[in-house]
Amino acid sequence: MAQNWYERHVLPLLIDLACGSAPMREMRRQVVPTASGKVLEVGIGTGRNLPFYDAARVHSLVGVEPSLRMHRLTRKRSQQAGIALQLVGLSAEQLPLADASFDTVVCTFTLCTIPDPVAALREMRRVLAPQGRLLFAEHGRAPDAEVAARQARMNRWWSPLAGGCRLDRDIPALLDAAGFAPQLQQRYLPGPRVVSYHYWGEAVAA
Ligand SMILES: C[S@@+](CC[C@H](N)C(=O)[O-])C[C@H]1O[C@@H](n2cnc3c(N)ncnc32)[C@H](O)[C@@H]1O
Repeated sequence: MAQNWYERHVLPLLIDLACGSAPMREMRRQVVPTASGKVLEVGIGTGRNLPFYDAARVHSLVGVEPSLRMHRLTRKRSQQAGIALQLVGLSAEQLPLADASFDTVVCTFTLCTIPDPVAALREMRRVLAPQGRLLFAEHGRAPDAEVAARQARMNRWWSPLAGGCRLDRDIPALLDAAGFAPQLQQRYLPGPRVVSYHYWGEAVAA
C-alpha cells in the first residue's frame, strides 16, 4: 500500500518512542523472557522486545515486520541483545513458514494494527508446534461501556495517525476465533483509559 510522508518518516519514530513506555516495558518483562526454542515474533517493529529475551533459552529467532523502515533499528537491537535475528518483511496474515515449525510465537502490541487479526492468529497457530505457546501482550477494548464507546469513536482519527492501530480490539474474542485457549490477565495500566486496558499471557491451540 502506498505510504505518505508522515507514514514513511514520522510514524516509525513515533511508534518506536511510544513502544518504549514504562508500562509497556513492564508487560514485555512479564511475557517475553519465557520464550524458548525456535521463536517467531510477529510484528517485531523496532525490536523493543529484544532486550527481554533470555538468549540462553532462544535457539533461533525469526521476526516478521512489514514496515521495512523499522528493520535497521531492529537489527541494531538484535546485535545489542546478542540474539541472531532473521527478519522477514511480510505481513502476518500469510506467513511463508512451515506448519508446526516454532516452539514459541511472540506477539506484542500488534493485534491492534494488523488489518485481519484473526487471519494472522490462525497463521500463528498453524506455525506453532503441537505443544507450542503464543505469548502475547496487547492493549484493547476496555470493559467499561463508557470507555469502550469512547474508544470506538476515537478510532476514526486515531487509527490514521497511529499506523492503523484500533483502540477497541476484543483480544479474548480474537484468540477464541482463531482457535487459541488463552490464560490471560487483564487490567488498566497507568495512562489514559482509552489506550491503557491491557491483556497479556500465553495461549496454546484449543
Ligand atoms: C505498535 S507497533 C508494535 C511493535 C512491536 N510488536 C512492539 O511490541 O514494540 C505495531 C506493529 O505491527 C506491525 N504490523 C502492522 N500490520 C502488520 C501485519 N499485517 N503483519 C505483521 N505486522 C504488522 C507494524 O508495522 C508495527 O511494527
